[in-house]
Parts: sequence; structure tokens; C-alpha cells
Amino acid sequence: MQQATCSARGITLRCSARIQETADTVSLRLRSHDGVRPFSFHPGQFISLGIEVDGRNEYRAYSLSSTPQDDELQITVKRVPGGVVSNRIVDNIEVGSELPILAPAGEFNLNQCPPVANHGRSKVLMLSAGCGITPVYSMARHWLEQHSDIDIVFLHTARDQANIIFHQPLEQLAQNHDNFSLKLLLNDATGSHYPEGFLDAAWLNKLVPDFSERSVYLCGPEQFMQDMRSYLEQGGLDMDRFYQESFTPTKPEPTASSTSPAHDSVQVVIPQFGASQPADADSLLSEALEDAEVPVILACRSGICGSCKCKVTSGEVESSTHGPLTPEEVEQGYVLACSSTLKSDVTVEL
Ligand code: FES
Repeated sequence: MQQATCSARGITLRCSARIQETADTVSLRLRSHDGVRPFSFHPGQFISLGIEVDGRNEYRAYSLSSTPQDDELQITVKRVPGGVVSNRIVDNIEVGSELPILAPAGEFNLNQCPPVANHGRSKVLMLSAGCGITPVYSMARHWLEQHSDIDIVFLHTARDQANIIFHQPLEQLAQNHDNFSLKLLLNDATGSHYPEGFLDAAWLNKLVPDFSERSVYLCGPEQFMQDMRSYLEQGGLDMDRFYQESFTPTKPEPTASSTSPAHDSVQVVIPQFGASQPADADSLLSEALEDAEVPVILACRSGICGSCKCKVTSGEVESSTHGPLTPEEVEQGYVLACSSTLKSDVTVEL
């Protein structure tokens, strides 16, 4: 199938299907107007999707739950209590809705995180909770569709049976593929044949006794990932075979080597928009740009997607990460606004 070209700033896609996965989770299928596949991507990557809130597009990053072989992109979105964007998506996006999308990004993908062969055969553990299932589901499906003989254990934990995202497709994969072993652990297993419990080191050992021999792909809520990482490490997993998704904001911590701001308030000037915005020293550049109401795109707010790339032409910021920026771009003064704190008055180009 053909693929559409798009600019680095993105493309508009149309919602072609909406699937209610659970009471609070929907999958949206997205395609371009001419029907060609909108992007290529590596399983595990995310796209950033813009939703209009108070007259401007708010972008959020969502892992793709489709595979590169599918004709359409699919994201799966769970309602977040108080979540401005996720609630609008779940409540308002219908078939026919048009959505601005930024190109796929993210280092948690099968190209950059390949499974490590162990005694000749790759064994993996896909480990997820809640909506964290989306990237690992895409990865596992991709391997199976490519007839890979990778030995896959897919361990997912959910509140109860009604809240298992992709429940039927997962059961189907387990039925159709000898190398796909599905393990579900439910906090409340009433009415299901799955075990009941909260995933801890004992359950991990019980459900996947050979996890230390596997490459592990982890995605879920922050506390869940911290706990799992520590169980895996303590259980003897070689952490060179450990990969995790992370959308944790990366505001830099002040360091001893940080230069002290000359004053408590600094000025952020964006000449191309005729804007000049006062901001607190040590606050995020992204916050000042948003306050200045210039069109900065903040998709992941985590230093991962690169959508907030901008060039500091004078003044000083301190960056906690350069994420996807190349060394040449960093050399030229490009920074990620979401991951850079203000150290002086600065002038910025978007
Ligand atoms: S918003 Fe994604 S890198 Fe800054």
C-alpha cells in the first residue's frame, strides 16, 4: 500500500471507526482522506493527537495499538479523571471527526529495543497494566503477524474482567499461536476464570517463573512500572534486557553546577510573534511559551516526542534531556521547551 507524505508538523487524519473497548476506553481508527496509509512506524511508538480546548489545540501522545501491517492507524484512549484531552476524545470523537496528528515518535519500539536471543531463541515478557497495554499489544501482534517464533508471555493486570482492554483479541491470539502465552491477573476476578490478586513479586514469580531469562517490555502507570522494575531487578533480570515506556515529565532538578539566576524574573522574547513574556527564573520554557500564547506544540511534555523543539538564539536555559534532537541541532541551539528551565532572559525561535 502507498504511504502519504507529511510535513514534520503533522497531518490531518479522519476517524474511520470508533471501538468501545471497555466502559471508559475507546480505540479510534485513523486514516488519511485519500485512503493511503498515513505514516510508517515501529511497533511501540506513539503519535501525538491534537484536540481543541478553549480555541487552541492541546496535544497528547498516545501509543499506537495497530501494527505497521494494518491499513489504518489505531490509538486506544482511556478516560483519565479530570483529563481535559482524554475525556474529550472519549466523549466527543466520532466517525468522521478530523484530527491533527504529529508523526510517530518514541524510543520504546522494536527497532530500538530488539529482543535479546537467549540460547538461540528469543523469549520475551510483555508486562502491562491498564492502558499501558497498547504499545506491548502492538509489538506482540507485530511479531505474530510476521510469523516470528519468539516465545511471548503476555502478562496484563486489570481491575476486573470488564476492564481488560483487547480481551477477546488477546484470547484469540492465545488460541491461534503456540508461542503466545496469555496471563491475566485481576484485582477482582468475580465471574472470570482468571486468578485474582495484585501483581507483586510473588505473583510475578508464580505467573512467569522464567522471567529472568526473558527480554522484558513494560508499560503502565508510573507506580506500577517502578514496582515491576524493582521486582524484575531483584529477581535477577539482566537490565540490559529491560525496556520500558515512560511519559514522565522531565523538569530538570536544580543541580549544584547550575548557574544561579541573575534575577528572580526573566523575560522570554519570541520575535517572530512579537511576544515578550515575563517568567520565573528556573521555570520551564514551555510554560512561558504557553503563557505567551505562541503556537508551541507540547505533545508528550516528557522530552520524548520532539514536538516542542525550538531554538534559543540568546540567553541561557538548562535542559534535562535533548530527547530526539541530533547533536548538530543541540550545537545550533535547539532545545526541548518542555525539558528546559530558564536561567536568564532568552530569545527563542519556534
Ligand atoms: S513536548 Fe514532547 S519533547 Fe517536549
